[in-house]
Amino acid sequence: MTQAARATAARPAGPDASGARILVMLGAPGAGKGTQAERLAARLGLPHVSTGDLFRAALRAGSPLGADVRPYLERGALVPDSVTVDVIAARLAEPDARRGVILDGFPRTVPQAEALERLLASRGGRVAGALYIEVDPDLLVERLAGRRVCTAPAAHLYHVESRPPLVAGVCDIDGMPLEQRRDDEPATVRTRLERQLPPMYEVVDHYVETGILLSVRGDLPIDVITDELVRVVERAEKRA
Ligand code: AP5
Repeated sequence: MTQAARATAARPAGPDASGARILVMLGAPGAGKGTQAERLAARLGLPHVSTGDLFRAALRAGSPLGADVRPYLERGALVPDSVTVDVIAARLAEPDARRGVILDGFPRTVPQAEALERLLASRGGRVAGALYIEVDPDLLVERLAGRRVCTAPAAHLYHVESRPPLVAGVCDIDGMPLEQRRDDEPATVRTRLERQLPPMYEVVDHYVETGILLSVRGDLPIDVITDELVRVVERAEKRA
């Protein structure tokens, strides 16, 4: 993406006509979307909705959705748009999403972005801002190799070096064991990056064109990035 494209944010805003504040988080696998979405959700008082977490919960539950998405997650490919959009539509219809949500990992293709726009427009809403965490692809493999995830449903995130738990292998928050995600194995990470980066860049360009992209650097300490995200959201809302 060009420098000019990065310097956007013409039309982001706070709650839309439906009263909801819908923010989307964009970034490569391992850019820090989940880490930041969890923190931003706490700071802004909005639910954190991650398509990856919803798919992994379906896998663990052994549901029909889990059976549908398993082959895609295992080989690092994107789940088909129709399945993903239905999952998000159902989640956005839940009562806690009425005030808004932070969408983590959705949309991941331009058709998903357009489906989200149609869905929100049908209830008088729109996306308020697209938060793009930019990280050099060379950093991503190391981030994903060191990631450990809590096995409780909240899936709290750690990293063996940059964010270790107080007790090795145990979640600080709920005491559950930590595990390595199966799709963080090196071969699957390579496939995820090869297949998922091109459509992600198209989504970034889509939000540049619609004037709501807000970019932040993802190679800074986690707290610094969170503060910067809050700052860019608040600044954009003041301007709107
Ligand atoms: P998903 O779970 O969304 O995976 P992802 O997009 O590949 O993103 P990750 O969760 O791997 O990374 P992240 O950016 O959240 O980084 P994190 O914060 O964990 O999706 C999984 C799969 O589901 C996909 O492959 C696909 O098959 C399917 N899927 C999901 N959504 C879909 C959709 N919309 N359409 C189709 N298919 C879909 O951070 C990574 C590590 O780095 C952590 O250990 C963290 O502690 C560390 N870290 C974070 N920030 C920093 C920092 N600033 N400095 C140092 N370390 C850091």
